[in-house]
Amino acid sequence: MAKDIKRIAVFTSGGDAPGMNAAVRAIVRNAFNNDLHIYGIMRGYEGMIDGNIKRLETTDVSNVIHRGGTVLKTARSQRFTTPEGRRQAYENLVDNDIDALIAIGGNGTLTGALQFITEYPDIAIIGLPGTIDNDLYGTDFTIGFDTAVNTAVQAVDKIRDTADSHNRLFFVEVMGRHSGFIALHTAIAGGAGGVLIPEEESSIEDVIKLLKRGAKRAKLFSIVIVAEGNQMGTVYDIAKHVEERVDFYDDIKVTVIGHLQRGGSPSAFDRVLASILGFASVEALLEGKSGVMAGIRNNNVHFTPFEEAIHKSKPLNKDLLRMAHILAQ
Ligand code: F6P
Repeated sequence: MAKDIKRIAVFTSGGDAPGMNAAVRAIVRNAFNNDLHIYGIMRGYEGMIDGNIKRLETTDVSNVIHRGGTVLKTARSQRFTTPEGRRQAYENLVDNDIDALIAIGGNGTLTGALQFITEYPDIAIIGLPGTIDNDLYGTDFTIGFDTAVNTAVQAVDKIRDTADSHNRLFFVEVMGRHSGFIALHTAIAGGAGGVLIPEEESSIEDVIKLLKRGAKRAKLFSIVIVAEGNQMGTVYDIAKHVEERVDFYDDIKVTVIGHLQRGGSPSAFDRVLASILGFASVEALLEGKSGVMAGIRNNNVHFTPFEEAIHKSKPLNKDLLRMAHILAQ
């Protein structure tokens, strides 16, 4: 029988994502609505190991819905990957009488949660997909993805002005070590002339062919979106190889958007998504759920076992990719 849940702790872990604060707010407010005690663990698994756990009041989440980053701070914890680290974390949770956890983060966060729940099943855990990468199976969108794409598109719009003015080719690198969701959506929304992603093989020849096609119809500038984890190497190497073979632009430049994509006020979409999932995670714990990630599928909240969310790969929409390539011409 499910344990009676009275005291919940929430934490954010791994790379921060815009909308994490909106999720924490929804969790705290719905915990209060259900007469639960709610705690915040600072700096994710690091704070769990260090016992950095504090009681949250509903006013602690006032004025945070519009803020990027995470008010609970975050970290990538090496110590939690060790049995000793997890044991220490467990003891701190028991000392604080914590019955359940809500973990907000990406693949690494859920991997930690799965390990923890396997060793210490008496503490229930619900996961929330908080990562700009949108690479978790079981949810159509992760919290932070929409904002990151909007930030990248704003950057591309600005680069377009200067690329056009100077007749230059720009390679713009966006985040995504293992997935091309940010790159693909940025390329479509930014009207890019090409996109290179980890999920698709391509070569310098392919890129040159694409650029030549554009040049033939008097396209004097172009922007190619390159995902961090693309299969062809660093964005600088790609630019260098193309520069050696292409002479129809005045110059070739590289822009790495980098961590700009991770910051900033969350979009309305991310705030709503985070609120829905945060709210649902508290109810899920009260219904006795554990070991699952709350996600959104076809506009409905859907719970996916950690095992699947982590290990099943979320495929890119092939039709979207085909469309992006066609529209780039
Ligand atoms: O997982 C989110 C993410 O932003 C990736 O897109 C990126 O590759 C990585 O984190 C960067 O991590 P860090 O900020 O630790 O260098």
